[in-house]
Amino acid sequence: MSWREGVVYQIYPRSFQDSNDDGVGDLAGITARLDHLVWLGVDALWISPFYPSPLADFGYDVSDYTDVDPIFGALPDFDRLAAAAHERGLKVLLDLVACHTSIQHPWFRDHPEWYVWSKGDAPPNNWTSAFGGPAWSRYDDERWYLHSFYPEQPDLDWRNPEVVAAMQEVVRFWVARGADGFRLDAIDRLAKDTAFRDDPPSDEPFGLPLMEHELGRDLRYSRNAEWIGEALGAIREAAGDALLIGEVYLPAHKHVHYLEHLDRSFVFELILSGWDPAQLRAAIAAGAATEGRFGPGAAWALSNHDFGRFSTRFGRANERAAALMLMTLPGTATLYQGDEIGQGTGAAGDPPYDRVGRDGFRNPMQWDGTRGGGFSAAEPWLPLTDPQERNVADQRDDPDSLLHFWRKLIGLRRDLGPGFRMVESEAGIIAYERGDKLVAINAGDQPAVVPPGEPVLATSAAAAQDGRLAPGDGVLMSRA
Ligand code: GLC
Repeated sequence: MSWREGVVYQIYPRSFQDSNDDGVGDLAGITARLDHLVWLGVDALWISPFYPSPLADFGYDVSDYTDVDPIFGALPDFDRLAAAAHERGLKVLLDLVACHTSIQHPWFRDHPEWYVWSKGDAPPNNWTSAFGGPAWSRYDDERWYLHSFYPEQPDLDWRNPEVVAAMQEVVRFWVARGADGFRLDAIDRLAKDTAFRDDPPSDEPFGLPLMEHELGRDLRYSRNAEWIGEALGAIREAAGDALLIGEVYLPAHKHVHYLEHLDRSFVFELILSGWDPAQLRAAIAAGAATEGRFGPGAAWALSNHDFGRFSTRFGRANERAAALMLMTLPGTATLYQGDEIGQGTGAAGDPPYDRVGRDGFRNPMQWDGTRGGGFSAAEPWLPLTDPQERNVADQRDDPDSLLHFWRKLIGLRRDLGPGFRMVESEAGIIAYERGDKLVAINAGDQPAVVPPGEPVLATSAAAAQDGRLAPGDGVLMSRA
């Protein structure tokens, strides 16, 4: 199968590997750890933003799109990283933050007309920021600027051709430097109603969880405007064949216009699902029904830097079954750093760094059982969670570890045939066919019978031995 349908490993660069003892991860650290990714067998890495940033939103507020923040190194470190990855057969995906810049980006000063403004005594409408509060902040006595996220992140005006051209330049810059693709940040917030109409009240469910301030509204004008295709077409034109994965915070069935231009979009139904058979089945069905430019449209994830750790959310007893599920879904599977050893949600900084409580999803990687976890010789920027309890070195030595289980799954993913079909099964069981294989997972609370087949890989020695699965078990089988 093509790398595009393989496994993308998400790196949160502040927390992966520190190479210069300042307590913060960096690009040289990523290069030094690439062999971990090779050993795991993943196809690509996606690196969350490492561009210069005042850190109001930890790198998602970019003040220069074509450079490296000094805390992470410099451009030559990126070149070395890209070359080392490519030598090892790994593709490199970057994070493109196209909806907004940092308020400290020189564009905000030098090209104010590249942003979205309104004049008057009050904001022009009721749009809210994703993080709470109005999406408009006062700039001076006359003007308000729009920010879909923090006030430090003014939204770019993608109706302005100069903005489109500037962002195309950014894409070309990184493609020329070795990027094989991009994850497109917050892309459903890029296109808004140009008439600034109020989001009307509504009692229709949105289809994904919303924050309290967004409930009861039909969020139809503050995002997802119909002209999104023009913006995405421009990004696609600059990106050529690079893999484009959209972060579209809408139910998967509403991704159609995005997937006319993108290869994949994240299935939020799965990232936000509990360990519940009905929810999981619905999430899988929703994502598997999407189509990208070529083939399946879904990018699947169980965890990321925004929504928490799957080991904590699903519970340790279900870790392996969840891993089996992620690695057998059609499209692109993304694996968040640390999930391979089951790192759970950790502690926040004191005081917290992130204003909306995401520190605990971003704690440093646990490479070994020392106090610093092999991440840094200095005090880490965020505390480690439990390096003695779980770390890469110990799990590499133990063939029965979660880490080895992920590795086997990643290896098996390559041989999965095309095609996907949900299979009728007993209440707690989630079952689907992938080519000549069948996957069955028990997400219920009772033992249950699985469809017939020859086990290839199971979550435990007992799983499927008598044609039944205990709760939390799963099996990959050759179809009978
Ligand atoms: C995306 C990022 C998140 C960030 C937001 C604004 O959702 O994943 O970390 O806060 O966009 O850029």
